[in-house]
Amino acid sequence: MKVLAVETSCDETSVAVVEENQILSNVVATQEEVHAPFGGVVPELASRRHLEMLPTLTQRALEKSSLSLSDIEGVAVTASPGLVGALLVGLSYAKALAFARGLPFVGVNHLEGHLNSVFLEEKNTPSITSTPSNSPLQRGRMAGELNAPQYPYCCLVVSGGHTSLYHVRSFGEYRRLGNTRDDAAGEVYDKAAKLLGLGYPGGPILDRLATQGNPKAFHFTIPNLGDKTSLEFSFSGFKTAVRLLVEKQKTISPTFQQDIAASFQEVVTSFLLNRIISAAQKCNTKTIAVVGGVASNQGLRKKLEALRAEEYSIHIPPLFLCTDNAAMIGYVGGQYLKRGVQSPWNLNATAVHELG
Ligand code: KG4
Ligand code: ZN
Repeated sequence: MKVLAVETSCDETSVAVVEENQILSNVVATQEEVHAPFGGVVPELASRRHLEMLPTLTQRALEKSSLSLSDIEGVAVTASPGLVGALLVGLSYAKALAFARGLPFVGVNHLEGHLNSVFLEEKNTPSITSTPSNSPLQRGRMAGELNAPQYPYCCLVVSGGHTSLYHVRSFGEYRRLGNTRDDAAGEVYDKAAKLLGLGYPGGPILDRLATQGNPKAFHFTIPNLGDKTSLEFSFSGFKTAVRLLVEKQKTISPTFQQDIAASFQEVVTSFLLNRIISAAQKCNTKTIAVVGGVASNQGLRKKLEALRAEEYSIHIPPLFLCTDNAAMIGYVGGQYLKRGVQSPWNLNATAVHELG
């Protein structure tokens, strides 16, 4: 089934055409320049930009897949969780498209999209690769290099809005093992970068800067969440620690920025790694997936790669599938449509929608 998918949950507008786990096209328009002057996403501006971009992106996605609208057999769209205004734009657009073409339509949970992003493959074009490393985990997967996990697997969803661990037994069977108690990891990367006067979005900037600093220059403590086997997260303390260090400085030098970035990166990635290992042990599996925007972090990818030596089977999507994209929504939507699951025309958008 050829599915046209729409994703507008936050500040990326994306349209994709997917057939089973094959990406026929996946077009993403970031809104970085819209939100950068404000140092964070402005919900109304995000909705307005989605509205402007969707028709053009749909046309581009169809062209790239060498298909026309009459070849499309189903429509999938992110319905939750996310910014409600932004979601409503994509949802209304996808409904109108499906209704006008007489196509089956399904709303998808954004988190379920991320959880399944490890199954996607590109049919035509190889992954975007801008990192110097030759390692598949560092550069992202190339076409034909299948890296789909076997069920059951343990998955860390780590992005700007979420940091949660799941036990995935099969498609649609997710059990949440732990969650963040406050900020998400990506959110705290962005906030720390903002405190250091680095641009927006801060995650990738801080990641790059971390390679130039001393990871031992500053000591950040992994929070004690009561139980050693806890699968919960807390990131707000790191943000406070960065703020206190910044406040002590008269001027923020490039060396200070680099050392904070490296020390922050070291503690956050160690924390994430410790938790995912504990989760895998609890679930009695050695198959691990890490997905979402922060899965593109090079420090985290290096640490995960090292786990392979301990016979873990590690699955991380290529870089362009870590951040928000419609291809992952198309894959999940296609799986539901194939099973006869459709959404009603009055499906609404929901800001908070936990999975598992
Ligand atoms: O999955 P995503 O595109 O959107 C959400 O669903 O939240 O994730 C975006 C988040 C942002 O907070 C961004 O700063 C972070 O992922 N991010 C990174 C990196 N690339 C993106 N954080 C750390 N290191 C990176 N390389
Ligand atoms: Zn996301």
